[in-house]
Amino acid sequence: MAIPAHYIQELLQRNNIVDAISAHVHLKRNGRIYKGLCPFHSERTPSFTVYPDTQSYYCFGCGAGGDVISFTKEINGLTYIETIKMLAQQSGMPLPDEDDKLSRLKSRIYEMNKIAARYFHANLNSENGKNARAYLRQRQLSDKTIVNFGLGYAGDDWRGLCNYLKSKGFTENEMVSAYLVGRSDKGNVYDIFRNRVMFPIIDLRGNVIAFGGRLMEGNGPKYLNSGDTPVFKKSNGLFALNIAKKSGKDSFILAEGYMDVISLHQAGFNNAIATLGTALTNQQAKLIADYAKNVVIAYDSDDAGQKATRRAMDIFSKEDVIVQVLQMSGAKDPDEYIKKFGRERFEMLINKADSALDFEIYKLRQQYDIKDTQGRIDYLTKACDILASIPSPILQDVYCSRLANETGTDKNSIKLQLEQSKNKAYRNNQYQRSKEILKEGIAGSIKVDYRQQGNTLPKVFAQQQIISAMIRDNDIFNLVNSQLTEDDFTDLNMKNAFVQYKTLKEEGQDVSYALLCHLLDEETRKILAKINVDNADIIITQNDLQMHIDNLKSAPMGQNEIRQTSVEDLQKRIESLKEKRK
Ligand code: GTP
Ligand code: MN
Repeated sequence: MAIPAHYIQELLQRNNIVDAISAHVHLKRNGRIYKGLCPFHSERTPSFTVYPDTQSYYCFGCGAGGDVISFTKEINGLTYIETIKMLAQQSGMPLPDEDDKLSRLKSRIYEMNKIAARYFHANLNSENGKNARAYLRQRQLSDKTIVNFGLGYAGDDWRGLCNYLKSKGFTENEMVSAYLVGRSDKGNVYDIFRNRVMFPIIDLRGNVIAFGGRLMEGNGPKYLNSGDTPVFKKSNGLFALNIAKKSGKDSFILAEGYMDVISLHQAGFNNAIATLGTALTNQQAKLIADYAKNVVIAYDSDDAGQKATRRAMDIFSKEDVIVQVLQMSGAKDPDEYIKKFGRERFEMLINKADSALDFEIYKLRQQYDIKDTQGRIDYLTKACDILASIPSPILQDVYCSRLANETGTDKNSIKLQLEQSKNKAYRNNQYQRSKEILKEGIAGSIKVDYRQQGNTLPKVFAQQQIISAMIRDNDIFNLVNSQLTEDDFTDLNMKNAFVQYKTLKEEGQDVSYALLCHLLDEETRKILAKINVDNADIIITQNDLQMHIDNLKSAPMGQNEIRQTSVEDLQKRIESLKEKRK
């Protein structure tokens, strides 16, 4: 949706970036900038920098950067429009005019989904739904559970829902975009969900956003899930999060399937959730970490489930959440376990769920024969590699003792091995770090007095400095605009920034970094955010600026040439400049 610049302008005035970020990050003032621990990656020394003058932030650790809108968007995992609405609400502004096509379609889809869910539910309770009712009873679901989850039944005929929605005034196109209805090659529409038990998927605001449908018998995929629609992204959603969030518990149980979750809730574990038939994604892990301090992974006990457990642990390790892993035996999933052994025993399993570390070591242990000397050595070496990655020396010591007992090895030699593993991990980290620095393209934004370097500096640097100066001081635009055209900007990111800046100026806007961000892609936003903080304490004089302009006017470099210069040469140049500064 195109939101007018004047609206964004006002929104930005009402939402100061320092206040917005302070709600999430403990910021310390340091001259013209603020520093704190980055909320987007885990770190122990602050590299997250906020620069109030340009209302921007940049993290030197992970490269996150942008304005108050992108910060709010990232930290809350919202869409652009949701972010605008949130900031508007927080600062008492009316919402932007929503009367556009996409948001109208979205509210139509919400409406349609709600009606469809009611339709499926009514179907389940009708004569038609006899088999489905019997199926759910056989799965031991109570009437109360069926109502709580709004379960339903999609009948056997091909146009039941189609016709019903049509009678409610929805068009075929709307039904298709809600993923409720498909269109054949000949152009005929038909119900996507047929003869299936229906599980509505509900978001945090209580909207029905999608469906999962389970086949009761016969051939075909066991589950059919809605594809992505304007209101639903499979990789972001979580089944029953709406209920788990209200459970008041700060620990969640993550299961694999809908039926596991429903069974768990029925047994009183109303903090159970599941992904929507796909492997856990980063966004979902973030979302979970937002609502829970602790998550117990309770995936299926088969190989696929155990593999998925490892993947999930990996993904959770980037989040601020304690992960435990449930080890079930005698049942393939939580649903079956509860039916076989009862809720109390499941509760006991939860209470003694292994920490992620125990799980790793336990899995490793299964791979080696520790009665064999070589097997023992390999096991201990690998185990030390795992221990090297945990930060607590106390915990490391505890595990060294356990390993010593378990293998009958002297604890001191295990500790020596651990030291070696730690050194190895450290070297690996250093290597990764320097690779990242090279990737960050730091080269394009070295902080350097132009005059020291004459005109040998790459043009991309000049372009960035010009845009950065224009952002800090709008008067500079006229000077630049009278001498350069967009074609002089050979770097595509800076060219785009220049063009957008110019458009805003022509609309009569005061151009701030944040307002400009609104029109830029993420990469350009980040580059500019970084230059902002790099330049925080530097004054770009009229002379500097003129030299940058002259640099661009003379024989422009080709795009390729710029890219080549900026990586290798510059890395060296940055180093020597840093040395000179010291
Ligand atoms: P029951 O077999 O009825 O106990 O269901 P479940 O919820 O335990 O499902 P299961 O553990 O077999 O699968 C886990 C999840 O993967 C399901 O909840 C679905 O979201 C998804 N899934 C399973 N089978 C299929 C399939 O055939 N197609 C698709 N798209 N998703 C599936
Ligand atoms: Mn199951």
